[in-house]
Amino acid sequence: MSAPDPDRATAASAFYSRWAPGYDYLATHAPGVRRLRADLVDSLDLSPGDTVVDVGCGTGATLPALRERVGPEGRVVGVDFASGAVARARARIERAGWRNVAVCRGDATRPPLCHADAVVASFLIGMLPDPAATVREWIDGLGPDRIALLDLARSHRSPGRPLNPLFRLAVRASAPPGTRAHHGESPARVLDRRVAAAHRTLLETCTATSHETRAGGFAYLSAGRP
Ligand SMILES: C[S@@+](CC[C@H](N)C(=O)[O-])C[C@H]1O[C@@H](n2cnc3c(N)ncnc32)[C@H](O)[C@@H]1O
Repeated sequence: MSAPDPDRATAASAFYSRWAPGYDYLATHAPGVRRLRADLVDSLDLSPGDTVVDVGCGTGATLPALRERVGPEGRVVGVDFASGAVARARARIERAGWRNVAVCRGDATRPPLCHADAVVASFLIGMLPDPAATVREWIDGLGPDRIALLDLARSHRSPGRPLNPLFRLAVRASAPPGTRAHHGESPARVLDRRVAAAHRTLLETCTATSHETRAGGFAYLSAGRP
């Protein structure tokens, strides 16, 4: 696993803390994002009573759908390193009155837990220095029965492909420090490379896999059983 860069991690965490309110709005109101989250959660095939970990949970936009699937007897644990995002996720839990949903501050590359029935990560992979190693770490360390990833990257098919230049600009404008150009690679290239590596690792390591693209080919959804 490539060594995490503490400066980049601290800067990225501060970025998401600062922008948590605006990010939360986008994470819940952007066109099509609810459907994508619902499909991500469906792909986990959760049962009542399951324990599911949402790594890099941000402001907790996926927590409601996860809580609905595992029911009051299951457990949902979110992990994120940005204090502002964690505070917002906790406020969401408080408002909903869920007693079996918790969010802790921690590193998504080493979630502070020993077992989960399922692991999910949405829009996180582009921020991880070595996503393939992290996916393997989740599988080996948490021993889940299911794992699912949802990410955005450049589109390789129509109708999205002609819009890639716009996507690149959006990535550049919104890139948190951990995904900004380094070693001469643009933020969009870093994102593409990381998303491809993580999804490939999941698809090569798991059985009963599914992989689809949505939103004009910009959204990548992969799931499987380790
Ligand atoms: C684009 S947001 C996605 C949030 C959420 N999963 C969603 O779908 O809305 C990425 C989140 O990952 C968190 N993150 C990035 N790298 C992390 C790491 N190494 N450990 C913990 N959290 C991390 C950031 O703080 C941020 O909240």
